[in-house]
Amino acid sequence: MKTALGKVESSKGAAAPLDVEKIRAQFPALQQSVHGHPLVYLDSAATTQKPRAVIDAIVSYYLNDNANVHRGVHELSQRATESYEGAREKARRFLGAASTRETVFVRGTTEGVNLIAHSWGRPRLSPGDEILITAMEHHSNIVPWQMLAEETGASLRVAPIDDRGDLDMDAFARLLGPRVKMVALSHVSNALGTINPVRRICDLAHAVGAIVIVDGAQAVGHMPVDVAQMDCDFYVISGHKMFAPTGIGVLYGKEAILESMPPWMGGGDMIKSVTFAKTTYNDLPYKFEAGTPDIAGAIGLGAAIDWILGVGREAAAAHETDLLEYGTRQLEAIDGLKLVGTSAHKAGILSFTLRDIHPHDVGTILDREGVAVRTGHHCAQPVMERFGIAATTRASLAIYNRREDLDALVGALGKVLELFG
Ligand code: ALA
Repeated sequence: MKTALGKVESSKGAAAPLDVEKIRAQFPALQQSVHGHPLVYLDSAATTQKPRAVIDAIVSYYLNDNANVHRGVHELSQRATESYEGAREKARRFLGAASTRETVFVRGTTEGVNLIAHSWGRPRLSPGDEILITAMEHHSNIVPWQMLAEETGASLRVAPIDDRGDLDMDAFARLLGPRVKMVALSHVSNALGTINPVRRICDLAHAVGAIVIVDGAQAVGHMPVDVAQMDCDFYVISGHKMFAPTGIGVLYGKEAILESMPPWMGGGDMIKSVTFAKTTYNDLPYKFEAGTPDIAGAIGLGAAIDWILGVGREAAAAHETDLLEYGTRQLEAIDGLKLVGTSAHKAGILSFTLRDIHPHDVGTILDREGVAVRTGHHCAQPVMERFGIAATTRASLAIYNRREDLDALVGALGKVLELFG
């Protein structure tokens, strides 16, 4: 039976496989009050908070080692290069790539997708070719492909999703004809939380000769990721969604494919030699890293990887699954609340509508109660269209959340319902 506040079980006595309080203590931004309430941060799909270890690594680079990379014989430059390349090796291991030639530093997932569109797609696609995406994609995994289709004359096809937010695999298989040259999809949907069966999709796509690009932004900070096991051709991530700073991400690509692609930006560091007659390009991954990179960002990303591995990815995933199940039960018990995205294979994302109350009103009232969520279309307008809504309220989880945070969300939603009668 549904109640107004949906208190169906207590947060007390929850078996905690992790010492969450110890984890929380490492996040300075979580130790504050907002509008007179202890901050309850439920917006990690937008960006995660940063642990002290990441902040310290960035500060230490600027305090002690600040210099450009790959360019100087002096001590500071060598230290900076060692840390920057050390972070690349950490990213390689973290993603399961075979070689650091396969791990290109980019600004984030969006830049990675655009790099692939520009450098892999432009020279290869022509009229009659097809790009297959899904109906649950973030705008950053739609718009670059639309632009590519416009430039090359290729067509964009969209595999539908069902009412739970799962990819319709039969329809996907039907759309996957011989004209499809590439498939692009999210590992985890940012608006619905659906975890896609990426390995199966890679097998199906490879059988018709298509490559697969996986947007891993919402997965990588929350569950084990292994690109070799997945057999994807590209996997793209953003550091800031996995406890690292903004402005840094990684594009993984199979070496033979990256090797076959032209550079996309010209400039320093991506060349071997330059004359006015001819320029030869650098080896992988530097061919794709023109200009001074985000050195501090990469170092922060390396520290974030160390930090996540210290906690344990399996343990983090299990903790978030427990929270997701708890939060789902709590929210489902609220009269008039409808979850959007109810796949059986979900990550820690709880998107919902509450009666006919506008999500921006919900979010504003939650904020006054110290609860931070995201409201709107979450850069996934076609998902909203699929469900016949304009927007949702989205609570998204990370390793530092507790059941108490979800209780606070439910309590604050009670305030919303009180105010709206
Ligand atoms: N893609 C980010 C989100 O889902 C910004 O909030």
